[in-house]
Amino acid sequence: MTAQIIAVEPFDLVVFGGTGDLARRKLMPALYHRDSDQQLAPETRIIGVSRGDLNRQAYGQLIEAALHEHLPDADIEPERLARFLDRVDHVAVDATGETGWRELAAALADGEDRVRVFYLATAPGLFGAICERIANFGLNSRKARVVLEKPIGHDLASARAINDAVGRVFAEEQIFRIDHYLGKETVQNLMVLRFANSLFEPLWHRSVIDHVQITVAETIGVEGRGGYYDKSGALRDMVQNHILQLLCLVAMEPPTSLSADAVRDEKLKVLNSLKRITGSDIPQKTVRGQYRAGASSGGPVPSYLEEIEASNPSQTETFVVVKAEVENWRWAGVPFYLRTGKRLPARASEIVIQFRHIPHSIFPANANQITPNRLVVRLQPDEGVKLLLTTKDPGPGGMRLRTAPLNLSFAETFKTRYPDAYERLLMDVVRGNPTLFMRRDEVEAAWSWIEPILDGWAEQGEQPKAYTAGTWGPSAAIALIERDGRTWYEEAA
Ligand code: BG6
Repeated sequence: MTAQIIAVEPFDLVVFGGTGDLARRKLMPALYHRDSDQQLAPETRIIGVSRGDLNRQAYGQLIEAALHEHLPDADIEPERLARFLDRVDHVAVDATGETGWRELAAALADGEDRVRVFYLATAPGLFGAICERIANFGLNSRKARVVLEKPIGHDLASARAINDAVGRVFAEEQIFRIDHYLGKETVQNLMVLRFANSLFEPLWHRSVIDHVQITVAETIGVEGRGGYYDKSGALRDMVQNHILQLLCLVAMEPPTSLSADAVRDEKLKVLNSLKRITGSDIPQKTVRGQYRAGASSGGPVPSYLEEIEASNPSQTETFVVVKAEVENWRWAGVPFYLRTGKRLPARASEIVIQFRHIPHSIFPANANQITPNRLVVRLQPDEGVKLLLTTKDPGPGGMRLRTAPLNLSFAETFKTRYPDAYERLLMDVVRGNPTLFMRRDEVEAAWSWIEPILDGWAEQGEQPKAYTAGTWGPSAAIALIERDGRTWYEEAA
């Protein structure tokens, strides 16, 4: 398969948080790859912004070290590296003060007519202040756009305040709210699977589907991000954005086109159809967990509290299950079981569409039980789609049945490198295509659904239940789904 590289027009990209973790781990490697594939025009410039007093050379060295750390050696080719580093510069700016802004304006001076991207990879508390200064220093040029990293707030009110502050400077079509899950190839493929195949859509319905499971399991802990994570927790960090976006792509009605608003209108309808979880439903439909010491990825790992070096106990959840319900004609009575956690036994993100039992079996009782069909969309790793079918066990000995997969492994079929989500998303920002970004109303609708759960936990004193690192969360997570006569799909669980 040949990937098609469509060159983008020259642009200036200003990364606030230019020495931070995201810039080093994701943004610069993504840009390097796009540059290696000759997608960036020669005039394109990348300006890292931080408080640090770094000159161009020192910043270039920092970025070079980051590329070596986060990319395979084979991807780094000296000539391409030199070309990429040549684009990179640094300006020391005080995001909330006045220092450095004139220098930034000077660095951008001859790029008035170009696409200009401000990427805010900083704490969200700084978004408003940065945008205000972008306006005050006259940097919001005709083709300017701003990219907001998650989290956009920690509840509905703070999300609204951020959206208001950014909205005072930038029009909605200039604002790109990133959810990097939407840039993952396999997540985009969900739309292709549903809307470019006639097979599934007639089955995508409460009369055929029993329930849906969405699992995003990680083996890692909080990776030095304890300061942020302890104020956030799994519900805010993963469900409010990534997992709800996946739910939307599974549950939405076919959009009229792939245009940004057509897709986002349909996702918004799903978010607005989610049944609020409050009161006595909170302990029935949600489970919170926090890992204690155990073993993961083959070695011993500390507890969450040790990992974040907490001096006091923390009530933050590192694992969560939520039973969500979409109240509309298509999905009434079809639960969506959402599950995510850190320090689980495997890294596995997948969506399981579980079809209903056959209405009547003609096979003898000793033919083995007929397992209902399942469609498993594997987002990462080992991306692919698997349809589990019941087949006859080959050979003599009577009619025995067994389940076998129809298996599409993307790696085997397409034999290509899967670009990181940020590569696609950054180029979409430059092209001005917001389809894979969240609109303001989506973010706020997601918070409106999440907030009663957070409030309910707080009011009811719902403590996270302990689970041992390297296991599938507290036993209550299994009990939640088993109370409904269902089980977690085994390959992930
Ligand atoms: C981030 C979360 O948004 O997504 C992290 O803040 C999480 O806590 C990460 O580890 C998972 O992303 P991915 O692409 O590795 O599945």
